[in-house]
Order: sequence, then C-alpha cells, then structure tokens
Amino acid sequence: MIVQRTTSLLAILAVVACALFILSKSTNTTFETVSHVKFGPSRYIPTKFPSFEDIRHPFRPAAHEPPEQAHSTSGESKWFSDWKWLHPFSSSITLDEHRTVLPPLPERPPVYTFYEPNSKYDEAQEKADGQLLLAWRRAWYAKGFRPVVLSRAEAMKNPLYEEVQRRELKPELEQDFFKWLAWGHMGSGLFADWLCFPMARYDDPIFLYLRAGAIPTHITRFETLDRALFAGEKTRINDAIKFAIQDPRDGASSILSVIPPEFFAVEQSNALAYYSQSVVTASYPQLAEKYASDAAAGRQALAELIDAHLHTTFLNSFPSGFTVLKPIPDHTTALVEPAMHLAQALSKCPSSELPGPCPPNRPNCQPCNSKSRSVSISQPKSFNNASDIYTIGVLPHPLTLITLQRGSDEVDTAYIRRETTRDPWLAEVTTELVGANRAGSTRVVAFKEVVAGEEYAHRTFWMTVETLLAKEGEDLPSTLVSELSWNFGFKVDTEDAEDDAKKFQDEAKEQPSLVKEYELIAKARNWLHDQPNRVGLRNIAEAWNLADIEVWRFVQAYRARSVVERQRWEKEEQNFLGARVD
Ligand SMILES: *[C@@H]1O[C@H](CO)[C@@H](O)[C@H](O)[C@H]1NC(C)=O
Ligand SMILES: *[C@@H]1O[C@H](CO)[C@@H](O)[C@H](O)[C@H]1NC(C)=O
Repeated sequence: MIVQRTTSLLAILAVVACALFILSKSTNTTFETVSHVKFGPSRYIPTKFPSFEDIRHPFRPAAHEPPEQAHSTSGESKWFSDWKWLHPFSSSITLDEHRTVLPPLPERPPVYTFYEPNSKYDEAQEKADGQLLLAWRRAWYAKGFRPVVLSRAEAMKNPLYEEVQRRELKPELEQDFFKWLAWGHMGSGLFADWLCFPMARYDDPIFLYLRAGAIPTHITRFETLDRALFAGEKTRINDAIKFAIQDPRDGASSILSVIPPEFFAVEQSNALAYYSQSVVTASYPQLAEKYASDAAAGRQALAELIDAHLHTTFLNSFPSGFTVLKPIPDHTTALVEPAMHLAQALSKCPSSELPGPCPPNRPNCQPCNSKSRSVSISQPKSFNNASDIYTIGVLPHPLTLITLQRGSDEVDTAYIRRETTRDPWLAEVTTELVGANRAGSTRVVAFKEVVAGEEYAHRTFWMTVETLLAKEGEDLPSTLVSELSWNFGFKVDTEDAEDDAKKFQDEAKEQPSLVKEYELIAKARNWLHDQPNRVGLRNIAEAWNLADIEVWRFVQAYRARSVVERQRWEKEEQNFLGARVD
C-alpha cells in the first residue's frame, strides 16, 4: 500500500515537474520591447529567458551581451557576425536581389476605433467620413501602432452583447457599450475615438508608454480626453463591462459614469488631439459654421484641417529643419536631388486658408506660414545626431559613386583598385557620429542603427538612388510616394514640389556638369540592372567597398520591407472602412 502510494505520489510529482519545466521552456522568447531601449545591436538579443533557468542560476545575467570589442574590430567582414542575432530578411520578400539582415520589425500594438455608418448619410458624407478614417489610420500607423476600425459586427460577437441589448439604456450610453463590447471582443490594446489623433513627436513619452502595451491592472484613460482614448487588457475591459451592466444607473449617458473609478488609471498628456463637436465649436468656429450649413463639406474641411495640423506638428518637432546629406559634394548634386525634392515637399506648409492654424492640444504651436517663416534645408556631408533635425539621405551604389567621382563612364578594374579609396560614402556620412579614424565595421553598425534603430528611425529617412530617378527631374516613384504619407502620418504632396524640381532642372540645363551627372547616374543604373557584361565590374566595385555596399543593401531592403509590411496590412484591412479612399 505505502509503496504504491509513494510511487503514485512520485509519479504525480514527476508529471508536475515536467509540466513546469515545459511551461517554463515554452514561455516567450520575444524580443526587447520599447520600454527598455538600448543602443546598438544588443537591443535585439532576446532577454526573456525561462524563469526556470533564472532559478537554477540566480546569479547569471539575464541576457547574453555581445563581447564589447566585437563592434570595434577591424577586418572587413566582422559585422556579419555582430549582427548574427538579427532575424534574417524573409526570403518571401523578393523585391531585392540580395538578401540582407534586418532588425526584427517592431511590434505594432493595435489601436481600435468604432465607426458605425449612418444609413441617413448621402454619398458625400460617407466619402468625407472615409477620408477622416483614412487620416486617422495614417496618423496612428505613423506612430507605430496598428489601426483597426471596428463596427457593430465585432460588438455582436462579444458574449456580453445579449445582456447589454436586454437593458433599457439611453442611446448614448448604449453606443458607449457597443464600443466597449467591440473592443472587449478584440482584446488588449488601445481604444481611440475616430476623432482622436496622436499629435506630437513619435518619441513623445506617452507614445512610448502606449507602445509598450497596456498595464494589466487598470484601464488607462486620459484626464482631459473624456472617452476619447483608453488602453487596457482584454480581461479588464470585459470585467468592467460586466460590472457596468449589473448596475446601470438610471439616466447615465456615459460609460465613465457606470464603470467605477477603481477600474481606471488616469494619465495626463497633451500629445493627443481630440476634435470632438464641442472642441470644434469652441476652437474652430468657422468650421462649426460650415458643419451647420453642409455636414459633408464640414467633415471634408475637418479632414483637411487635421492633416494640416499633423503636418504643422511634424514641422514644429524639428525646429532646426531638414538636412539632406551630401557627402562628396563636388559630384553629388544630381544624386541628392530626389532627397531635396522630398525635403521641399515636406517643408511646404499646408494650405494657408485654414479655419485654425494650431491643433487643439497645442494652441500655441508655431503656425506654419510660408510667407513669414521658411523651413531651412541644409546639405552637410556628415550625419548630425541632433534630435531637432530631420535627416534625409540617398545612398548610391559604389559603382554609381565611382562613375560620378571619375566624371566619366570609363571605369575598369584597374581604375577602381588603383585610383579609388574604399567606402568613401559611409566614411564621410559617419564621421561626426563615430569619429574620423574608425573601421568600416564600426561605421556600418552605427549607420544601420541610424537607419533602423528606435532612437533614430523617426528622424531619418533613407533611400537608394538606383530605386529612384531614371532620368533627370523625374518624379519620385509612386510606391515611395504612397509610403511617405504612412511614414509621416499626413498626406505628403510631392507634386507641389514639382515646380521646384522644374526650376532645379532649368538651372541644371545651364550647368553642363550637372547634365553629365544625370547621364552618369542613368548609365550606372543600366549597368546595374541590365548589362550582364558589366557584372564583373559591379562585383569588383562591391568587393572594394564592402561597407558601402553593405549599407546600400541594408537601406534598400529596409525600404522594401516597410512597403511590404504596409501593403500586407492594407490588404488585410481592404474590406474595412477607411482603408483607402479613391
Ligand atoms: C509573450 O510576451 C508578450 C509580452 O511580454 C505577451 O504580450 C505575449 O502574449 C506573450 N506570448 C506568449 C505566447 O506567451
Ligand atoms: C544620438 O542621440 C541620442 C539622443 O538623441 C543618443 O541617445 C545617442 O546615444 C546618440 N548617438 C551617438 C552615437 O552619440
């Protein structure tokens, strides 16, 4: 008897131990979240190890740190092993001929909103709402979230829906319940009114906080924003709904008066703009009048106003203006032209006939008025790590740069080996960042961080010249133009800047050297794309400039991936409201 009992006890213990072990092993090895940002590749090392391990080795550090020296060793190919922790670039993404290693895509926490089409609306009103929803999606997407528009359909899937239906509630409160039911059905994340917009820098502390995920114990709400924004976890949301329907106080019209305050953690922030009816009436009377006379025109005007406010906020976030990097300035005027084009489009102030120049959360903003204040665009050789500057860079393929420096397409192996220095582009661009006499590997790591790192990605934008213009003065390619508005969160009008581009071309015609530069870029582009007999030369140029080609590939892959990420998301959302307005 005793033996048998002991055996079964042991068996149970063994099973429990196994289960614990397996559970601990199967916990999450996700990657660093935004809450603890580190500099350098160490950010990408998994730090969440099984707790079982921690118990067995209490004094072992939680994460493997890469050896410090690894970043600074010389030797051309070292950085590959530095970056071995990074996820390889997915092979299914075939926009590029070369695969490269990119940091994992930062996770986008969902932000939900609730929109119910009104059957009384005419086509113009529906279209105006579609535009507002698109603006809402763009703005949140640009701040690193994943915007999702919910409707009654999601609310009905919540098991608590029936119960809410049975109550006799005021229509306004019932609407609030539907929103929460839809949110509770989807689960953890933010819930924002579709007239609530993020209106501050990407690295504003409140966005860092919201991107890090909901706190498990409370539902976060914002003091001055009424019901415009919440953040919470699924179980907390549904608990709050359950609690509220048990005791729906008579006459209540807001969900905030039926959910007890203990459920909430109240935050303060002026990073969010809420364009509620009362805000519009108080702050933008001109717009309110329009609303009253023609609802569709009013909404349309509101969509434009919000877009202009987002643009103004962006310009205000970078008071020192734009820099367009121009290393090797004697030969790269034509090369950086697309970046100048973009900088001009971004610095163009939004329409001046606005009913109010400043967003409601920042009434003392610096209104962007093209007459009194023009945004500066400078062209330094080297990247300046100041957080009040927005940097745009165009990377040339080494062969393109060699041709431009030579001023002729008579380039061969001997010329490259004897007459050119290695990695001239990266060396100039990173001088201010890492110093003058550093190894290529150090520069590559620092530069990749500037392109894709959390600290920098929101204040820099990089392109490769070979994906851009084929001929002088050609407009930016359409994939890039559509990416821009999702990257910046507002409509970027590159056509407006076309006039500047035309002016630039006219000037170019008077400078034969510029015309030559365009010719050489076009030629190099052909070599890279079409001419198999130039493969040898291309390989020599790449082998001679290992660091330059590494960052060129990195930028090309990074841009391609962000296009693919957005397209995939658009495809998932295409059947829902406001995904696209044609
Ligand atoms: C992994 O952890 C993250 C946050 O740390 C959490 O949101 C996610 O649900 C976890 N996944 C699993 C499979 O446990
Ligand atoms: C660049 O500036 C950021 C802060 O804006 C800082 O955290 C970072 O360390 C700087 N990088 C270098 C290489 O100095």
